[in-house]
Order: sequence, then structure tokens, then C-alpha cells
Amino acid sequence: MGSFLFIPTVFLPFLLFILVSGGSFSEFIYPDFSASYFHFIDNAGAFLSSRNGTFKAAIVNPDANQHNFYLCIIHTASNTIIWTANRDASISASAEMNLTAKGISISDDDGNPVWSTPQFKSSVSALLLNEMGNLILLDQFNHSLWESFQNPRDTIVYGQHLPVGSFLSSTLSNFSTGDYKLVLSGSDAILQWHGQTYWKLSMDTSAYTNSDAIVEYMAINGTGLQLLGRNGTVVVIQVLLSPSDFRIAKLDSSGKFIVQSFSGTDWKQEFVAPTGDCQIPSVCGRLGLCTASTTHSCSCPVNFLVGSQDTGGCVPSGSYSLPVPCNSTDNGSQLNSPAVSYFRLDYGTDYFSNIFFDPVRYGVNLSTCQDLCSKDCSCLGIFYGNSSGSCYTLKDVLGSIFVSESAQNDRLGYIKALVGSTPSNFSDNKNPSRKKFPVVALVLLPFSGFFLLVALGFLLWGRRGQSKKRDIKLGHFGSLSSGDMDAVYIPGLPRRFDLEELEVATDGFKTLIGSGGFGVVYKAVLPDKTVVAVKKIMNLGVQGKKDFCTEIAIIGNIHHANLVKLKGFCAQGRQRLLVYEYMNRGSLDRSLFGTGPVLEWQERLDIALGTARGLAYLHSGCEQKIIHCDVKPENILLHDQFQAKISDFGLSKLLTPEQSSLFTTMRGTRGYLAPEWLTNSAISEKADVYSFGMVLLELVSGRRNTLRLQSHSLNNSGSGGGQSSSSSVSLLVYFPLFALEMHEQGRYLELVDLRLEGRVTSEEVEKFVRVALCCVQEDPTLRPSTNTVVGMLEGGIPLGQPNLESLNFLRFIGRGFTEASMIDEGTDQNERVLYPEAYASTATMDSRTFFSYISSQQVSGPR
Ligand SMILES: *[C@@H]1O[C@H](CO)[C@@H](O)[C@H](O)[C@H]1NC(C)=O
Ligand SMILES: *[C@@H]1O[C@H](CO)[C@@H](O)[C@H](O)[C@H]1NC(C)=O
Ligand SMILES: *[C@@H]1O[C@H](CO)[C@@H](O)[C@H](O)[C@H]1NC(C)=O
Ligand SMILES: *[C@@H]1O[C@H](CO)[C@@H](O)[C@H](O)[C@H]1NC(C)=O
Ligand SMILES: *[C@@H]1O[C@H](CO)[C@@H](O)[C@H](O)[C@H]1NC(C)=O
Ligand SMILES: *[C@@H]1O[C@H](CO)[C@@H](O)[C@H](O)[C@H]1NC(C)=O
Ligand SMILES: *[C@@H]1O[C@H](CO)[C@@H](O)[C@H](O)[C@H]1NC(C)=O
Ligand SMILES: *[C@@H]1O[C@H](CO)[C@@H](O)[C@H](O)[C@H]1NC(C)=O
Ligand SMILES: *[C@@H]1O[C@H](CO)[C@@H](O)[C@H](O)[C@H]1NC(C)=O
Ligand SMILES: *[C@@H]1O[C@H](CO)[C@@H](O)[C@H](O)[C@H]1NC(C)=O
Ligand SMILES: *[C@@H]1O[C@H](CO)[C@@H](O)[C@H](O)[C@H]1NC(C)=O
Repeated sequence: MGSFLFIPTVFLPFLLFILVSGGSFSEFIYPDFSASYFHFIDNAGAFLSSRNGTFKAAIVNPDANQHNFYLCIIHTASNTIIWTANRDASISASAEMNLTAKGISISDDDGNPVWSTPQFKSSVSALLLNEMGNLILLDQFNHSLWESFQNPRDTIVYGQHLPVGSFLSSTLSNFSTGDYKLVLSGSDAILQWHGQTYWKLSMDTSAYTNSDAIVEYMAINGTGLQLLGRNGTVVVIQVLLSPSDFRIAKLDSSGKFIVQSFSGTDWKQEFVAPTGDCQIPSVCGRLGLCTASTTHSCSCPVNFLVGSQDTGGCVPSGSYSLPVPCNSTDNGSQLNSPAVSYFRLDYGTDYFSNIFFDPVRYGVNLSTCQDLCSKDCSCLGIFYGNSSGSCYTLKDVLGSIFVSESAQNDRLGYIKALVGSTPSNFSDNKNPSRKKFPVVALVLLPFSGFFLLVALGFLLWGRRGQSKKRDIKLGHFGSLSSGDMDAVYIPGLPRRFDLEELEVATDGFKTLIGSGGFGVVYKAVLPDKTVVAVKKIMNLGVQGKKDFCTEIAIIGNIHHANLVKLKGFCAQGRQRLLVYEYMNRGSLDRSLFGTGPVLEWQERLDIALGTARGLAYLHSGCEQKIIHCDVKPENILLHDQFQAKISDFGLSKLLTPEQSSLFTTMRGTRGYLAPEWLTNSAISEKADVYSFGMVLLELVSGRRNTLRLQSHSLNNSGSGGGQSSSSSVSLLVYFPLFALEMHEQGRYLELVDLRLEGRVTSEEVEKFVRVALCCVQEDPTLRPSTNTVVGMLEGGIPLGQPNLESLNFLRFIGRGFTEASMIDEGTDQNERVLYPEAYASTATMDSRTFFSYISSQQVSGPR
């Protein structure tokens, strides 16, 4: 009420008018209109209302501060602000917002503008607040000149589109713009803090990716949250929520992205990202250590102390200070700055950006990584992955660190600190006597005297060392010879071989040991007597060397017991060769389908488990998710003790888009291709799960899924030879369908490789068959993840129950095989694989058309 007393008397007549008119507003106002909180105090500052009153525009003080007023759009029923014009510049209760032919302007008490709409070519003839909550400036033809929807703040509402390239930014509790952003890219919605990513919608567990179309905008409606492409006709990623008439999506002041619906009385949170508080970059302030439990808690890491009032966060203990970040335009001052040291963070801690940013270097040692940081004044610390030698740098601004829950994290953090309090004006420590050396934590322990000596020596040596250093760096790449080895610099590349070297090692490409979709493989012996496999890549256009090397660097840094190790490569002229570790038992197809000794059940289990573990690592264990795209027995290699290792992973990324369509059609044994390859829907790691399921079935039967089998039911062909039995009818049996039928009848032993008779139990076979059927379900979302597959095979996770409806497509394919074999009786075509074409057609044909389609294919097919 106090403020009421201060109302300047000039406004009283106006106020009276409002009181008389009963305070109902139209959805339009017209130029030469002005409003202040005082003008409209009886309507709590509201001066404009949408047609049905769902939204209103008002000048309000949301934090009840007498001095800070803002022009806002408010959802009336919930009294929630969905948009604010002048977030960073509040006005007083008497300051005005004016609507003129030039647009909206908001001025402070002295009439100085603090916020305004941009300049327009034509003049404004009206301001409209529509029923969706969009504030629109219209020209004389009722065309929109400017819309609040196109200038989003921290919220979008039901029906609003957030176009690619625009972003939401958080609002601090004092109402100014915060540091968190939700950015919409052409493929994802991303949360960022000072430009550093801390969450991606596509990686959220409740988001479904439906398409790989380019994203055009984000929207929320009654169904949920969507990223849409192709002018709104294609949903690219979506989060499905329960039906609701009104919901908003807001980037909260704390950095969380929250979708909530309004039921008429209160808000209900439906979606929150990221889910864990500790994943928020600055949850505990600078260098604060976030520990997650039911709620998160903050502390300072070992050897750090709580910072002073104005710095907040944590600061190094002792007489050390954090460097002041620079603009990386001037590294000079810090280069000369004497005493850079690194404070090691506790084991098992991590930093949010490590998950989303690639390391700046692979395969370097810790001191190289620290050097890199020391030389860059924008670098404030590093994280170093001990096993892979990956070097991550923390730049420009430091957030909180968190206790990592991932067992695979072997990154250790080192925070840059400067000795002495030279550049730091914070924390005026009055206790130099209590200088305590953090002995454990300090990696470089620069006693000033000793350090000076070293620094001097380094300076002297530095000039001479310049050229030498270069040699060392280049040496990392193996022998760089001819002019062909251009200045491609990719950190972390595995060893680079000369073509001549490989020619010698393979004895002129003499011993062919395999061939596959990507090329042929030769056995080779390196000068140090190591046996390797050299893959000569074909079917690849000549690709930019840099792109090739980038992929190689990634593949070369993936190490797992069940993945074939890439030892080196050669990229010379048009030649692209890969050097792999040698697997002495060759590929699975040879052991499984060949004539050698039969694979025992335990060996098959080991192979299945190894393959599943390798895939699980590719899908979720390494820094970048890798979809193999071509899982089949030919790509599962065996070593002693039948240790299985997957080969050719990462190679599909080497193909250009045109080539990759070729790639999908080119594969010989198409029985492993997931249905989604043929229906143009998005390919996820679940495509690999499908292929793996098919391989599992082959491990059960010891035959190709698509192999022709003699019919059991017809007369016994005692004659033995295939030639004579014109009476016996042969049928093409599609084994996955047979497996489905036997699963339905619980007759698992019928499925097993005859050669294993009596040495395997029904339960063991059931496990394989049920896991396999779960993997080959038509709907990719029903298929288990590879981690779950590993768990089911190991026995830690209960076996899933395949969804029979999602397996019906096997019946279609299976019938196709049978029909085809009737027609095609007698000829011994090897592997007449109908599958992809036949399957593709089921999408558009009823079953009769489908069968005649198959028949026609058969009749016209080669004989
Ligand atoms: C306003 O409400 C009426 C009745 O509830 C409805 O028919 C109309 O569509 C609403 N108008 C707008 C613009 O939503
Ligand atoms: C806003 O309008 C009022 C009254 O029409 C006028 O006195 C004031 O100067 C205008 N302010 C600005 C910044 O144009
Ligand atoms: C613009 O819209 C208003 C309200 O709907 C209407 O009264 C006016 O005639 C329209 N003007 C033109 C030029 O269409
Ligand atoms: C709001 O708070 C932030 C940080 O707490 C501060 O930097 C900013 O100046 C404040 N803004 C206003 C308008 O007080
Ligand atoms: C929400 O948008 C999606 C994608 O455009 C659409 O499929 C769905 O039907 C919409 N839901 C409602 C309730 O309008
Ligand atoms: C996109 O959709 C809008 C409305 O749905 C339509 O007006 C526009 O013409 C479409 N644009 C294209 C390029 O199809
Ligand atoms: C640092 O960068 C910011 C923005 O990038 C710029 O505004 C500022 O002037 C720069 N400062 C210096 C000293 O270069
Ligand atoms: C780290 O690697 C660099 C260059 O590869 C080498 O000069 C240096 O000696 C290595 N340091 C240690 C401690 O191994
Ligand atoms: C400072 O260091 C960064 C990173 O090493 C580098 O990119 C930048 O070019 C350097 N700036 C100058 C002026 O040397
Ligand atoms: C890093 O790895 C090496 C061997 O690869 C090991 O000896 C060393 O203890 C590891 N260091 C840390 C800090 O884990
Ligand atoms: C540190 O404080 C001194 C005096 O208090 C001032 O002259 C100097 O500019 C400050 N340095 C920085 C980096 O803020």
C-alpha cells in the first residue's frame, strides 16, 4: 500500500478512468499509448489482455522489490511470467513503456530508453497480444513486424516454435540474464554454460530419435516436447508426455530445463534435464565438489579452501592463486609468468564438459598435456585420461567438479595455479605464517629457488630445443617421408606406415587371409617379427586425408579386449590401408560354418559374450558412441581360447553419404540387416543389436539363418547323394522363424546344432534363443541394449520375454522363403536371399501381393 501514497497526482484522473472502465482490456493497443505500473496499479500493472484472457501484458515487480519493475507477459491462470522485455534493466513503478509508430520503448525515470524493439521499415499500427501469448507488433496491413515469440527469453509455451539458431537463456533470481543457455542446433537441443555443453536432448533417456532429418524448430504441445524438421512434418526427436492442455518449457535459473503442465490449479513437473544436480556446471560454484545423494552436497576438494565472499567457490590452499583467464590473444604474460603448478583433484572426480568435448590430444603423456595448458593463458586446468593418454583442457571459466559414478572414468584433474599472490587480488590471506604445503597434491613442487634455476635452464635450452622438439613430435607419427605426407596434423594417430614398408611386410600382398565389405586382408610380418593383418580398403572413394585420419585417430584410440586393435595405417596417394593385430583363428564364419572341428557350446557362449561385450563398449563405453553397422560372423574374429574380437568397427564412418547407401545394398549376407535399414528410419545402435541377435541364432544352429535345409517330414532319402532324390522336396527354411515357432512351443532342443547332440541342455539353448528373439524384434525400441544383452547372457539380468507381435515380420519373410523354394525346386542356387527386397515390400503390400511379388522375382531371377 505504501507505494500507492507516492502516486503523482497527475495520474489520478487516468486512474479514475480505469476504475470506471472496470479494468477490462482489449487484445490490441494502438500507438501513442503509454503505461507504467502506477497507471495501471488497480490491475496489478496489466494493460493488455489476450482475447479470452489467457495471457496478459503487465508492468510488474516479480520479486516484490519496490524498485524493480519489468514489462512482462503473464499466463493469467497460473500467474506465471512467460516473457520479459527488459530483463537486464529494471525500471521504477512510475517509469513508462511507450508504444509509438516506431515500436515499443521502455524508459527510466529520466526518460532514457533502457529497452526498445528494433527499427522497422514500416510504421507500427497496433500491438496485439494473441491467445497463444505472443506479443505482436503489426503494420497497417496487419503483417507482423516483430513478435515476442521470436525473441525468446527463458520460456516457450504451448504451440510456440523455437527456431534453429535461437536459444533460451536462464533468468537469475534478481531477474537479470543468467549464464545457462538452451541452444537449438540442426540436430539437437543442447544445454550450455559459457558455451560449454552439459546436456543433449538426444542423449537423454526419455528422448526418442525418430528421424535424421535436419531440425528446424523445437515445440511443445499436448503430446510432449518435439524437435521438428521438414517444415514441421517430421518429428526428429521427441519426449512423450501425458496429454495436457497447457504446458511450458523453461530454462530454470539453476540451469535445469524443465517442462511442466498446468492443470488449472497447479503446475506439475513432467520432465527435468539434466536429472542429476551435479551435472549442472556451476552447481557448487567454481571448483566446488558436488557429491550426489538424495540431494547434492557441496564441499571443496582436498587442498582447496572455501573462497572469500566475492570469489565464491574454492581456491587453492597455501600461497597459490588461480590464474586470471585471458582472451587467448595474449599468451605472453603468462608464458613468462614463472610459477605455474598443478593441483591434482581427488581420484574419481570429473568435469561436466569432458563428457561432451573431445580431448584436444590423444596418446600424449601427462607432462605434454600440462605443457599444453601452461602455454595457453585461457587454459585453467586439464583432465588427463591415463589409459588412453587423452588430454582435455578446461578453458575460460571453471565450473564445479563432481564425484564420478562411472567406473570407466580414469581421468584425473589438474588445476592450474600460480605460485605467490601476484595476479590475484582475491582472498587477502593474513596468515602467511600458516603456509602449509599440500605435499600430496602438488605435482610440480616449485621451491622458488630451485624453480628459478630450472626456469633459467629451460629458457637457455628453449631456443636450441626448438627444432629438436619438432622432430620429437613428428616422430610420434612413424616415418614421415615423401611429399605425400603433407601437413596433416591429427593428434593421437596410431603408427603411420609407408606403402613400401607394407609391401615388404606382406611379401607383395601375397597371403590373402580374408575379404569383406571394405576390402581384402593380407597377412604380414613386420620387421620386429610381429604378425599383423593388413586391410587394403576398397570400395571407398578417395576421401580427404584429414577426414580419414580423424576417423583413424578415433578408431586407434579404442581399446577393448573384445575389439580388434588397430595398430597403424597408411594413407598414401589413393591408397588407404589399415594394420590390425593378427587373429590366428580367423573369422567366426569359418569355425562355425566350416568343416573343421565343431565349436563346443561353451565356446559358443564365450564368443557370444565377447561379441556382446565388444559391442556394448562401442555403444556406451567409449567417448564417442560408435554404431558398427555391419555385425556378422565375418567380422567376428577369433583368437586362442576362442576369445572373440569385433573387427571393422568405426569404418562405416569413413564412407561418404552416397557411398553409405551403396554400402547398405552392397553387403552380400543381408540377413543381418535390421529392418530399419530398409524403411529409411533412423539407424541407432539397436541396428547392431538386431544383427547380433541373428548371429546368436546362427551360433545355436551352426548354420546360416538363410540356408536351405532338407525337409524332415518327407521320405527318408536313403540314397545319400543329393542327385538321386528327385522325390524328396527341399524347402528353404528361414531359421529365425523356425526359432520363433520352437520358442512358442518350448521345443528349444530342436534348434540346436545336430553336431552338439546330447552335450547341451534345453535351458542353455533357451537362453540363447530368447535373447536372440529379443534382439531381432522389429521395433528397435523393444530390443535390449547391448549392456542388457551382456547381463542376460552372463545371467545377472533375467531373460526378457520377446514381444511376439514385434516378431510377426519373421513370418512374412519365412513364408516368402517357403513359397520361393517350392517354385524354385531343384536348382541349387546358393543363398537366394530374398530378405531385404521382400521385407521392404511388406510395408506397402498385403500378403497376397507380397507372395506374387516374390514369385515374380523368382521366375525372372537367374537360373
Ligand atoms: C476463446 O474462447 C472461446 C470459447 O471458450 C473459444 O471458442 C475461442 O476459440 C477462444 N478464442 C481463442 C482465440 O482461443
Ligand atoms: C512516452 O510517452 C509520454 C507520454 O506520451 C511522453 O511524455 C514521454 O516522453 C514518452 N517517452 C519516450 C521515451 O518517448
Ligand atoms: C487488422 O485486424 C483488425 C482486427 O482483427 C481488423 O479490425 C482490421 O480491419 C484489420 N486491418 C486490415 C488492413 O486487414
Ligand atoms: C544480478 O546478480 C548477478 C550475480 O549475482 C550480478 O552480476 C548482476 O549484476 C545482478 N543484476 C542486477 C540488476 O542487480
Ligand atoms: C503435437 O505435435 C506433434 C508433431 O507435430 C503431432 O504429431 C501431435 O499430434 C501434436 N499433438 C497435439 C495434441 O496437437
Ligand atoms: C511450411 O508450413 C507452413 C504452414 O504450415 C506453410 O505456410 C508454408 O508454405 C510451408 N513452407 C514450405 C516450404 O513448405
Ligand atoms: C576479451 O574478449 C571479450 C569478448 O570476447 C572482449 O569483449 C574483450 O574486449 C576482450 N578483452 C581483451 C583484453 O582482449
Ligand atoms: C612425454 O612425452 C614427450 C614427447 O612425447 C617426451 O619428450 C617426454 O619425455 C615425455 N615425458 C615423460 C615424463 O615421459
Ligand atoms: C595462445 O595459445 C592458444 C592455445 O595454445 C593459441 O591457440 C593461440 O594462438 C595463442 N595466442 C598467441 C597470441 O600466441
Ligand atoms: C597410469 O598408468 C600407468 C600404467 O599405464 C600406471 O603405472 C600409473 O600408476 C597410472 N597412474 C595413475 C595416476 O593412475
Ligand atoms: C590488484 O589490486 C591492486 C591494488 O589493490 C590494483 O592496483 C591492481 O590493478 C589489482 N590487480 C588486479 C589484477 O585486479
